[in-house]
Amino acid sequence: MAAGDVMLELKDIHKSFFIGTPNEFEVLHGVNFTVREGEFVSIVGQSGSGKSTLMNIIGALDRPTTGEYTLDGVDIEKAKDHELSILRNKKIGFVFQTYNLIARTNAIKNVELPMMYAGVGHTERTERAKMLLEQVGMTNRMMHNPDELSGGQKQRVAIARAMANDPAIILADEPTGALDSATGRLIMDIFHELHEKQGKTIVLITHSPELSLETERIITLRDGDIRGESAGKWEQIKADMSVKTNEEEKAC
Ligand SMILES: Nc1ncnc2c1ncn2[C@@H]1O[C@H](COP(=O)(O)OP(=O)(O)O)[C@@H](O)[C@H]1O
Ligand SMILES: [Mg+2]
Repeated sequence: MAAGDVMLELKDIHKSFFIGTPNEFEVLHGVNFTVREGEFVSIVGQSGSGKSTLMNIIGALDRPTTGEYTLDGVDIEKAKDHELSILRNKKIGFVFQTYNLIARTNAIKNVELPMMYAGVGHTERTERAKMLLEQVGMTNRMMHNPDELSGGQKQRVAIARAMANDPAIILADEPTGALDSATGRLIMDIFHELHEKQGKTIVLITHSPELSLETERIITLRDGDIRGESAGKWEQIKADMSVKTNEEEKAC
């Protein structure tokens, strides 16, 4: 796949949850968009707008109720569950707000885990884990367990883990949500570096218009619908998210 090729495509994606018969609650109401190889895209929306539901679909952790989703040429609807888990392991690097590292397991082993599932040999995966941890500035903390690391350090390990199998895309759901702003800044810098220096395709999911402004493309989600593609304009993003600006809030 070359830069600019379609990496993922969502066509008329609906997602409903059953909340006890006969009720069905539709969270996504026909979402359409495409992400191309090498893009750094954000999906921005308020809490409850359906971001994590959408992330679960993009990450093949969950299937849409209806609609078509193609990831790196694979039709998700047709793929069997075990094929989806292989696909996730090889093609997607997940980064979560809560890090989701394995407890009582050091940084190297955490980064090695996706490679172990992919069948990479011991020596090769240890070497690669060390290299990836070095890339995120964690050389001096490689033998530490998650409970001996700060939030920012844990997120660095999680990013190294996301890169383990050289995924087609990195999918990050509120990756700086639990961090102070200075630490969040360092984490965002790592994403920019992965994008600029390694050409990684990155989808950043966030409630923060400020963070979304750092990406090349901004897809705004409101109440389970795509409201628009804001071309990096603050007021437009706010309007699409229908968040009040500070001035409006003060006026209230
Ligand atoms: N498994 C589920 N069952 C029922 N409702 C759900 C489920 N997952 C999410 N929802 C609802 O879908 C809406 C969107 O949730 P979510 O995708 O987590 O939003 P966001 O990540 O933007 O905060 C919320 O109203 C939430 O309560
Ligand atoms: Mg969420």
